[in-house]
Amino acid sequence: MRVLDDFIECENDVHLDGRVALVTGATSGSGLETAKKLAKRGARVIIASRSSAKLSDAKAEIIKSSGNENIVTRTVDYESLKSVRNLAHEMYLFETRLDILINNVGAIALEDRLTSDNLHLMMQVNYFGAFLLTFLLYPLMKSSAPSRIVNVSSLAILLGYIDLDHVNDVGFPTFTYYANAKLASVLFTVEMNKRIQGSGVNVYSMDPGLIKSKFFRHSNNTFWRSFLNGVLMLFGRDPVRTAAMPVFLAIDPGVSNASGKHFRDCAEFYSSWFAHDPVLTKRLWDESKRLVGITPEEDWELHLRPTLA
Ligand SMILES: NC(=O)c1ccc[n+]([C@@H]2O[C@H](COP(=O)([O-])OP(=O)(O)OC[C@H]3O[C@@H](n4cnc5c(N)ncnc54)[C@H](OP(=O)(O)O)[C@@H]3O)[C@@H](O)[C@H]2O)c1
Repeated sequence: MRVLDDFIECENDVHLDGRVALVTGATSGSGLETAKKLAKRGARVIIASRSSAKLSDAKAEIIKSSGNENIVTRTVDYESLKSVRNLAHEMYLFETRLDILINNVGAIALEDRLTSDNLHLMMQVNYFGAFLLTFLLYPLMKSSAPSRIVNVSSLAILLGYIDLDHVNDVGFPTFTYYANAKLASVLFTVEMNKRIQGSGVNVYSMDPGLIKSKFFRHSNNTFWRSFLNGVLMLFGRDPVRTAAMPVFLAIDPGVSNASGKHFRDCAEFYSSWFAHDPVLTKRLWDESKRLVGITPEEDWELHLRPTLA
């Protein structure tokens, strides 16, 4: 049976029985629809987010829409790296494999402050949390290969800039951090791809376009919150449609040779010239490892890739 993905370029007939997928930020918007699509194709889907009440509502909605009861909820709060480590730990404890990881958590208009991990809150929620989770889950994904990682980014990368000496400084407008964090997720995709080549794990980044969601709900400014959420409701794409893209990248055989690339509308898309700067992507990788505190025990690069030290 052919599974239509509501978006013509993204169609394929891949089924996921026996496969395990983790979708972060799957309680609303595009993440929730992504989880539904993966469930519809037969995967065991783990949905992770910070509110257990929202997670149980999302689980019920996914089961209802897909008929697949193999849905697991996991709480994680990206404001805390300990919580991200705990999610990774639970994955190793309760799952025997991980075929698909969709890094979808994202937020804007959060407070302009550092977290208890000494990273800027916006950078941690939109980049460092996903970096840490992906780094920790890589060995599990490698043992489940062929497997795929999809990093949900944004068109905002075109306004992003990575200054590693000031990446966590406070005092900038929220959109600056958002653009920088989403650019970092694209650069991390490029660098990770170089480091894991031949492992059978593919990694992609993508821009979903504007999404019909309440993405600006965290803003304290009533006018901007209503206005910008209104713009998304008017001009955004239906999340059912934007979710077709991460699913396409997670399963389509046609992109198996396009690891490390950036996509939009299920086709390769221009990313950013910073992504072509190998010195910057390497520095970002090394600095990200340092800032999230990767320990020697967690550092698979020490064990698996001695030649790239
Ligand atoms: N909306 C757009 O127009 C747009 C455009 C380009 C790219 N994007 C990107 O697309 C992705 C999905 O966007 P969306 O509009 O569908 O978002 P959304 O509806 O706001 O959903 C975001 C998800 O992330 C979760 N989340 C937020 N902060 C978290 C934290 N600290 N810890 C754990 N989970 C957290 C949310 O949980 P809670 O409900 O508990 O907050 C929710 O499940 C994001 O990565 C976003 O940056 C969005």
